Amino acid sequence: MREATRRHYLMCPPAHFDVRYAINPWMRPDKPVDAELAMAQWERIHDLYVELGHEVERIDPVEGLPDMVFAANGATVVDGKVLVARFRHEERAAEAEAYRAWFAERGYPEVHVPEYVNEGEGDFAPAGRRILAGTGFRSDPAAHEGLKAFFGLHVVVLTLVDPRFYHLDTALCVLDDDTVMYYPAAFSTESLAVLRALYPEAVIASREDAEAFGLNAVSDGLNVVLPETATGLIDELRERGFVPHGVDTSELLKAGGSVKCCTLEIRR
Ligand code: ARG
Repeated sequence: MREATRRHYLMCPPAHFDVRYAINPWMRPDKPVDAELAMAQWERIHDLYVELGHEVERIDPVEGLPDMVFAANGATVVDGKVLVARFRHEERAAEAEAYRAWFAERGYPEVHVPEYVNEGEGDFAPAGRRILAGTGFRSDPAAHEGLKAFFGLHVVVLTLVDPRFYHLDTALCVLDDDTVMYYPAAFSTESLAVLRALYPEAVIASREDAEAFGLNAVSDGLNVVLPETATGLIDELRERGFVPHGVDTSELLKAGGSVKCCTLEIRR
């Protein structure tokens, strides 16, 4: 029996969302973004979380930071401890301070700004008492020692090899403490062997579903919110006893992000 647990999320409305630079292969600054539609798609994800019974907080968007809607990149929070991001690209660097301030102002006792590059939950996926940690494009391999020391959790390093799947959360999703879904071709041979050994029962995504950002999903243990175009995964999740909720994220995809990218989980 699958069971949902109540989650606490932080989201950033896409008030200043746009594609003005290209720091991943999905971004095309020459292609227009429908800002109103992006907002409506974001609101739908937000409202769905609320309908599912989760607590959702908002952080104020900052003008001039068009990717700030991707809250997952702002930090990693486990046991109430906040590891703030340090972005790979200058274009997003100032987002880290906005997220740091949000947590500090709310009295989180441990808000750590590390010296190593890490893009929050974009690359770090807590799964029970372990953290799956992606590297290859954004987060520094050196982040993994710091990650382990800060949270006191076991860290499993996974190397990404396809630039289209530049963050771990574009290639893998934690469905519950013991279950993940992922796209094998996004990982190095060694990392794939690690995943197979750890999660022999994993849900495997097709190329089509991975390219539709179907792995950029958010699970509460039962409900899984993901792009509606990832139809293979939607069927497979249903078969495995999960309840998939497909949403349209067409505008956010123009920046190389979808459901999970918009969602930072605050774990107490
Ligand atoms: N344009 C953003 C970037 O390339 C998208 C970030 C998506 N976030 C994520 N968690 N994968 O940095």
